[in-house]
Amino acid sequence: MAAACASLTIAAMNTSTSATRALPRIAVLATGGTIAGAAPDATNTSGYQAGVVGVGQLLAAVPSLAAVANVQAEQVASVDSKDMALALWSTLAQRINTLLASDEVDGVVVTHGTDTLEETAYLLHLSVKSDKPVVLTAAMRPSSALSADGPLNLLNAVIVAGNAKARGQGVLVAFNNRIHSARDVVKTSTYAVDAFQSPEIGALGWVQDGRVEFQRSVVRPHTGATPFVIDSNSAAWPLVEVVTSYAGVSRVAVDALVSASVKGIVVAGTGNGSIHSTVQTALVEAAAKGVAIVRSSRVGSGHVMRNGAAADDALGFVTAGALNPYKARVLLMLALAAGLTTPVALQQIFDTF
Ligand code: SIN
Repeated sequence: MAAACASLTIAAMNTSTSATRALPRIAVLATGGTIAGAAPDATNTSGYQAGVVGVGQLLAAVPSLAAVANVQAEQVASVDSKDMALALWSTLAQRINTLLASDEVDGVVVTHGTDTLEETAYLLHLSVKSDKPVVLTAAMRPSSALSADGPLNLLNAVIVAGNAKARGQGVLVAFNNRIHSARDVVKTSTYAVDAFQSPEIGALGWVQDGRVEFQRSVVRPHTGATPFVIDSNSAAWPLVEVVTSYAGVSRVAVDALVSASVKGIVVAGTGNGSIHSTVQTALVEAAAKGVAIVRSSRVGSGHVMRNGAAADDALGFVTAGALNPYKARVLLMLALAAGLTTPVALQQIFDTF
């Protein structure tokens, strides 16, 4: 994967004194989002610009950070996360790995937009090479809003990143007092401050008033235990897209993607990943040309059963299990980039990670 090298500035927010030396050292990497958004007035929570407030200002809004961590900050990007780019993913993953390899950093917090947070979180969960905590956070209300949720989310994310219990749990999302695993978490509301859930299995734990508790652990391998590497030698990201199945859908999208030399297609199927017969015919033809086809579901919870709604073995399809289509796309891109292409090899990856 090609890495765009960002010019990075580190601003020490605290000087090391005898009183603060024992505090965890947390790097906050800002990427934009509503947490860094600003609106013309405090009651406007939808007509604002995301990613316009700098990380220094975000940290300054939370003076109590100084009591819980020694924070260093970097502005890695200033984007609305709907515009998240693959090059920025490469930059972020590499920067986190560099920081966590240092004895001077105990954990990383990433501030991010909510719209694609679950995709970035899962990408990092699969590609960070450290058991030190990496915690993503965000906000549903811009920094200028009455009752903005960003400052408390940021404080809680830093507290989680500095807590020994968060080590070895993979990439986490701290949002609205809950701690979610990057693999499980999805955005489930367009407006509510309780916008993230882990469907079916619930949050990993919670953070409140400085206390961090985990209620279950992460079962599947992650971070250092995956074969996925994002570094400056990585090849370009393979073209992988998502198509959806619905009433009356045509095969136009699948045919166009095959013409564009797509390497993988994730289908957001109906129900248990079922696919309209018109699209399924197009996908079988695509699979015969070497395109990796992954069946997932647009339902939002549950899992897709292999050889359930479709005869995957015969069709040459892979099933995504409980991953939603967008997370399945992340895993498929990483697997293809690692040189895994056959349905059998890819299914093993989906069954493992
Ligand atoms: C974004 O995803 O950057 C904008 C929306 C949000 O953060 O809630």
